[in-house]
Amino acid sequence: FKTIDDMDLDGKVVLTRVDLNVPVDQGRVTDATRIEKIVPTVKDIQEKGGIPVLLAHFDRPKGKRVDSMSLKQIVPALEAALGQPVAFADDCIGGPAKRVVAALNPGDVALLENTRFHEGEEGNDQTFAASMAALGGAYINDAFSAAHRAHASTEGLARLLPAGAGRLMEAELKALDAALGNPERPVVAIVGGAKVSTKLELLTNLIEKVDHLVIGGGMANTFLVAKGIEVGKSLAERDMADTASAILEKADATGCQIHLPVDIVVAREFEAGAASETLPVDQCPADAMILDAGPDTVEQLRDVFGRCRTLIWNGPLGAFEIEPFDQATNAAARVAADATRDGTLVSVAGGGDTVAALNKAGVAGDFTFISTAGGAFLEWMEGKELPGVAALTD
Ligand code: 3PG
Repeated sequence: FKTIDDMDLDGKVVLTRVDLNVPVDQGRVTDATRIEKIVPTVKDIQEKGGIPVLLAHFDRPKGKRVDSMSLKQIVPALEAALGQPVAFADDCIGGPAKRVVAALNPGDVALLENTRFHEGEEGNDQTFAASMAALGGAYINDAFSAAHRAHASTEGLARLLPAGAGRLMEAELKALDAALGNPERPVVAIVGGAKVSTKLELLTNLIEKVDHLVIGGGMANTFLVAKGIEVGKSLAERDMADTASAILEKADATGCQIHLPVDIVVAREFEAGAASETLPVDQCPADAMILDAGPDTVEQLRDVFGRCRTLIWNGPLGAFEIEPFDQATNAAARVAADATRDGTLVSVAGGGDTVAALNKAGVAGDFTFISTAGGAFLEWMEGKELPGVAALTD
């Protein structure tokens, strides 16, 4: 695919798809990470003489104008990140968009209203895409985190204008290739989260690609059940036990080593500060639930990380949002961060919960790459083609 470096942007209005789907509380942005990450793209387009006109979605208004989902509330945070005023058009097509775009000069930047206020966005409607395309002379997609959606602004536009990848898109693709596409081996993947059922495709894809697979969080309980280990009142999908067994067998056949907890932290209550105890994995009391992995499991991970060159991480190891059940996640994160700093491990993590957990552990900055994507990261790890990326490559 082309990048900003390969494209002639001089004097052109550059429709730039970014992801501004950021957490907002009462009209204020509470985490500006995604906004900060698009700054290099905006600046580099301006540097090449282009005028960036930003397109983005916010939330899921389902084709209707919903005032609380206006991108206008993002403008102050965007202006702060870019260090310049941002012109705002209250529609992404038609008169309002045309008027704002026509008034722009080199050096300026504009943001157009939520693309999802139009049904044509999610429907990837050609006429709608053409109305957006009419506003500019080139298209840059910098929204890797929305690239799993085949929408007009993520896919359709790439087929209507000279198209290329922005800096964040480039960085995401490079990091993911280093983690799973063409990684330094051995590779260890950590997959956590509540349910096996939502990560089935992910697990199936990973056992063919990685050398070690660490299974954590609630989904590990389903694997313990599959191995005939009692898990008391723990969250577990008992009806998925056969599927979990099949995954274990397949992993054996492909030479992927699966790592399950060897010790567990259990409690009777799922609340902050609940009385907890650490036990061997096969000793969960009938009236207790497993809420975290124990220190012996972390030691085992230290050994695995020490033998691997690449780590890809999606999903916490325990109920990290409630203390003290964040300890295994925090400790494993620190081990990974240390190995990354020492230069022995390339570490890539993605997904909302995972990034929140790494931030909470204070080590996100030490990882080689933290993806800004949630759903797109997961689909990419599942081995799926992302339409927004495919449209740039075709
Ligand atoms: C995200 O926040 O993961 C992306 O912006 C995609 O949002 P969506 O799940 O509403 O398509």
